[in-house]
Amino acid sequence: MRKITLLFTFIYISCAAQQTPAKPTGLVVTKAMVVSAREEASKIGVEIMKKGGNAYDAMVGTELALAVAFPFAGNIGGGGFMVYRKANGEVGALDYREKAPLAATKDMFLDKDGNVIKGKSTETALAIGVPGTIAGVFAVHKKLGSLPMSEILKPVIALAERGVIVTKKQEKSLDAYRESIVTINGDKTLLAADFKENDTIKYTALAETLKRIQKNGRNEFYKGTTAKILVDYLKKKGGIITLEDLAKYEAKWRTPLQFTYKDLKLTSMSPPSSGGICLAQILKMVEPYDLSQLGHNTAESIQIIVEAERRAYADRSQYLGDPDFVKIPIKALLEDAYLKDRMATFNPEKASLSSEIKEGKVTYSESTETTHYSIVDQFGNAVAATTTLNDGYGSKYYCEELGFFLNNEMDDFSAKPGSPNMFGLVGNEANSIAPQKRMLSSMTPTIVEKNGSLFMVVGTPGGSTIITSVLQTILNVYEYNLSMQEAVNAPRFHHQWLPDLINFEPDTFDPATIEKLKSKSYLINEKPSPIIGKVDAILVLPNKNLEGGADFRGDDKAVGF
Ligand code: DON
Repeated sequence: MRKITLLFTFIYISCAAQQTPAKPTGLVVTKAMVVSAREEASKIGVEIMKKGGNAYDAMVGTELALAVAFPFAGNIGGGGFMVYRKANGEVGALDYREKAPLAATKDMFLDKDGNVIKGKSTETALAIGVPGTIAGVFAVHKKLGSLPMSEILKPVIALAERGVIVTKKQEKSLDAYRESIVTINGDKTLLAADFKENDTIKYTALAETLKRIQKNGRNEFYKGTTAKILVDYLKKKGGIITLEDLAKYEAKWRTPLQFTYKDLKLTSMSPPSSGGICLAQILKMVEPYDLSQLGHNTAESIQIIVEAERRAYADRSQYLGDPDFVKIPIKALLEDAYLKDRMATFNPEKASLSSEIKEGKVTYSESTETTHYSIVDQFGNAVAATTTLNDGYGSKYYCEELGFFLNNEMDDFSAKPGSPNMFGLVGNEANSIAPQKRMLSSMTPTIVEKNGSLFMVVGTPGGSTIITSVLQTILNVYEYNLSMQEAVNAPRFHHQWLPDLINFEPDTFDPATIEKLKSKSYLINEKPSPIIGKVDAILVLPNKNLEGGADFRGDDKAVGF
């Protein structure tokens, strides 16, 4: 009898959990919010909105403030993607991804025998793609901004001049990267000093560069003094980016990818990011299963998600690349029947083998170390933006005169079919190197609507794990009824087809869950693995208040009013 009562109590609680939204545990505000990797950047975004600016003005301020306060990934020497949703429901997406220089060649990272030369696409000046960030923020401002650019830049320049206080986590990160930064830039370089927690780092050279951009606009970076200094610097270091490359760079407005999951409507990044397509494929493949009934992070839920991830990443490797160069069968990859068929080989009793999963057969239709921030403004506009130098501090090439690091995004190309990049991702012809081509990304800035209203703004860094971290954050709220902050905090796992391994965040999953998966032949990465993702998200609560989810894995912070 007692057992039965307990069982019913459990069923009642789980049903109740479905009906009553989780109690917020993150910062809650009534009007506007920025969640980013550093409090200084979130604050600058919020101050801009307090002055009457909109989410797009705040995007420009936050993006550039991250270049100052979070040089690990915030940048003007890299690029990114931004997805927006206006208060009236209109959506759009901006691609300010780096491009391969004109002198780039398909085999530029291979030796004479056709083998990949280790480190050439990550640690040399050839690793650097033509930066897109300054073009990106000016494009956003031109189309959607409301305050003058010079006013938006003021607090960013002031921050660079005043300096940024080193956090404990930053002290550790600087310790970890110092040797490689010094190897490339010498021991006089700004970040060579042994900075400790609570020290202040002043970014004087960057402040001067930003002042010139404030005065002369976008073309200062792509055609002006800054462009000339940058090209001279790169030439001395063996780079191939020319003034012509910079002058030719344009950020591109793209049609974002829109799809549904149950009663949610998602807007995410389209190619050249794989984020939206892979997220859509995985969500569509798991949709028929009752994940909420199976439970959060149980072996059964993990199994279904992993099998969908495995299949989506196999397709990614074969079909995805820069849409300006390759024809991507988007429609076919997202067809219900196709995705149902992809999951037909899933056996709940036994793991699929990646070696036996190839990309699906689709017919082409004839018609033809990163950072994320989320913003909602007091007018109801939303911005999800992910920006990167690729690796931490990018290529580590730091132009002293201009005060910023340059990316090593060329490693996101497939240097050779089947040969893994720094995230272990393999690619094919669709993502081969060509002049002016954009390298395939996993960045997944995403905006979710429920019943036609804004529901969530979400994204994360994490290389190949970006897509699966965004996926789990959405499922954590929607299927498992966690608050925004709990959804961000929850332990994460990841599978990317190859290598055929499930990665779990260290010491966070029940050993019994892992044993159960092993008993079904799942291969588990037993090596010490790092954290997965660093999600910054905003949830619109039923009473229209905003709850922030700022990832404790970093110094991330939600600020709002
Ligand atoms: O675009 C991409 O997918 C990668 N360059 C992102 C790199 C990244 O997230 C590094 N952070 N951990």
